Amino acid sequence: MKAGFVQTSPRFGDIRWNVDDAVERIRALCGSTGATLVALPELFSTGYQFKSAKEALDLAEDASAGYAAKRLGEAAKELGVFIVAGFAEKSGRKVYNSAVLIGPKGRVGTYRKAHLFSNEKKIFSPGDTPFEVYKAGRARVGMMICFDWLFPEAARTLALKGADIICHPSNLVLPYCPAAMITRSLENRVYAVTANRVGAEERISGKRLKFIGTSQIIAPDGKVIARAGRVRPCAHAADFDLKAARDKRITPVNDIFKDRRTGFYEL
Ligand code: ACM
Repeated sequence: MKAGFVQTSPRFGDIRWNVDDAVERIRALCGSTGATLVALPELFSTGYQFKSAKEALDLAEDASAGYAAKRLGEAAKELGVFIVAGFAEKSGRKVYNSAVLIGPKGRVGTYRKAHLFSNEKKIFSPGDTPFEVYKAGRARVGMMICFDWLFPEAARTLALKGADIICHPSNLVLPYCPAAMITRSLENRVYAVTANRVGAEERISGKRLKFIGTSQIIAPDGKVIARAGRVRPCAHAADFDLKAARDKRITPVNDIFKDRRTGFYEL
């Protein structure tokens, strides 16, 4: 199968523009490569730097009925593909930093970011959904969001639950994640697709955020299959061999899951 990412440059607060732009890029990527799974960045439809929890609540959308969910759902149906997208999810009076997996038949699953980064703690409710694995065609897909990369338990849990591919919507500002995700892939023998954004936001005076781009696709052996630049929106897709992600042997006598010494680990 083929899977990939779309790296975007959202306009803060302009949900219609951001969603329509992303849908056009998904359509172009799937049309030119035959990709059937595409990841979008974290908070792709709103932008990142909310000034307040109230502003986030005003811009957040329902996971099924919002403009982003509806347009992505239509695109997934029309193209016959699965899409993972990060968005501000409104649920009652709460706002979560969420990711949704949408397929040709509609929403498959939602994940709410467990590890909130920096100022996000003032904006979002902490995630209350477990790390879960969903079927997307033949692939088993797990989701984690941006800063979750720093907590190896996130990717490990998804891998132990059978993920072949971890889709990782991101809005990275620190430099460490692209290299760290090589280890996350290698130590779990899974594919990882990090979809990041480019551009900068300074909606809070003196708190300029520059997003690092470098969206990437990592193979179960840690190979960097694709890595985007730091400045421009773009899209990439690659061939994924699901058998490679399901074979946890790293030598003929080392299966990285069977060799775990769980009795020695602090949980
Ligand atoms: C991040 O979690 N958006 C850095």
